[in-house]
Amino acid sequence: MRKRMIVSAVSAALLLLANPASAASATPGDPGIGDPYYPTYGNGGYDVSHYDLRLKYQPATDQLEGTATILATATQNLSRFNLDFALDVSEVLVNGRKAAFAATGEQELEVTPAAPLAKGAQATVVVRYSGIPSKVVRYGFTAWLRTPDGGVAAGEPESAWWWFPSNDHPADKATFDVSVLVPDGTQAISNGVLVSQSSKLGWTRYNWRENKPQATYLATIAIGKFDVSTETTAGGLPVVNAYSKDLGDNDGAARASVQRTGEIVDWLSTLFGPYPFSAVGGYVPNVRTGYALETQTRVFYSPRQFAGGSNTSVVVHELAHQWYGDSVSLERWSDIWLNEGFARYAQWLWSEHENEGTAQELADYVYAVHPADDAFWTVKPGDPGPDNQFDLAVYDRGALAVQALRNAVGDEKFFEILKAWPTEHRYGNATLAQFQDLAERISGQKLGDLLQVWLLTAAKPANPTTAPAAG
Ligand code: ARG
Ligand code: ZN
Repeated sequence: MRKRMIVSAVSAALLLLANPASAASATPGDPGIGDPYYPTYGNGGYDVSHYDLRLKYQPATDQLEGTATILATATQNLSRFNLDFALDVSEVLVNGRKAAFAATGEQELEVTPAAPLAKGAQATVVVRYSGIPSKVVRYGFTAWLRTPDGGVAAGEPESAWWWFPSNDHPADKATFDVSVLVPDGTQAISNGVLVSQSSKLGWTRYNWRENKPQATYLATIAIGKFDVSTETTAGGLPVVNAYSKDLGDNDGAARASVQRTGEIVDWLSTLFGPYPFSAVGGYVPNVRTGYALETQTRVFYSPRQFAGGSNTSVVVHELAHQWYGDSVSLERWSDIWLNEGFARYAQWLWSEHENEGTAQELADYVYAVHPADDAFWTVKPGDPGPDNQFDLAVYDRGALAVQALRNAVGDEKFFEILKAWPTEHRYGNATLAQFQDLAERISGQKLGDLLQVWLLTAAKPANPTTAPAAG
């Protein structure tokens, strides 16, 4: 949903009329959106504004059936285009007419419409599909996490392929309606607000809506037996949390942490500005994996996050991403520091708030604990490479870079920058270069050398963050 690409239906129709040669000049869309880390992720030639996913899931067998209706706009005269997807497709319609389709590569669905799409034309793409997502392995893994009572889609950067066809890259954000039919007694959780729920013939339908632009990897679905808690913050924000009924010994710590969501959102709002979305919350399914993920408005937490006791720090991290990552999204994956460096730094500020050590103390600790020959310093948080995208250094050295920035510009300017970034780029996409521009504008300082030392050099900076800026 890139603003410059949105064309009204009227002008699209005029374009069609004014452009009779489009069929001759139409070419296939690129099979990737142009991200050097992941050349085949996302696609070229169109831009999605909305996904409507109508799903039916059988927890006993992991059988998923779906119809995806995708609203898109062609950004070139388009003879053919790709979606990223890995389940079995039975039919594709483009603007109501049957389209030819073929699965190619690991996750490409190649669609050839009956007639080419003119640049600027709206397209409604319907994909009917089915599969057993836990059995679908791509690049050696599956992002669909099977549980004893259902399944979950949560993974970064990959997770969409296992449950809906998409332009799978954060550069193309869209709104979502996710409708899930499950047997009575089972819950389906997704992003945003539960707009309706109904039961008949032994099946219950849950209709979830995310009304703000959302990256495809931040879309999530969880089916299983959950206890769902719903409350409203003093500011009127609905908080929906869900806990698997099967969390065992981790149940208490998970609830004691995730139930702090509303309070933590209020605290983060004082740092980052108003919370950008219409609802918030988290869910803890009974998966075996270890990570958490900032799925938009409804954070995914693995129970293992709470195996060591309560953990409000992870809640702070994932909620900080709602501003840094979800509302302001990456334009390309190499800029991952814009997400992880700031989410980690929010944890350091929370530690300070809780009287458990200041951000500066934590920075000094991280700097000291990794000797100069530690591989930690070989990872550049500002361009870590696809294999190190979630390396510890992206988080901890990334937060050191934030502390270095804070010391260079002073607290007043620093906290102004922290709030201005998610305010100026709300619901959009942005780059490291744009962050530098904003921080330089607000601070009145040149920050290129500092960012080079802390983010883009494969060596331990000579001075800790307390020292004057290097360079
Ligand atoms: N953004 C996530 C976090 O820091 C990291 C998720 C890593 N992805 C994965 N599939 N393990 O909370
Ligand atoms: Zn993170």
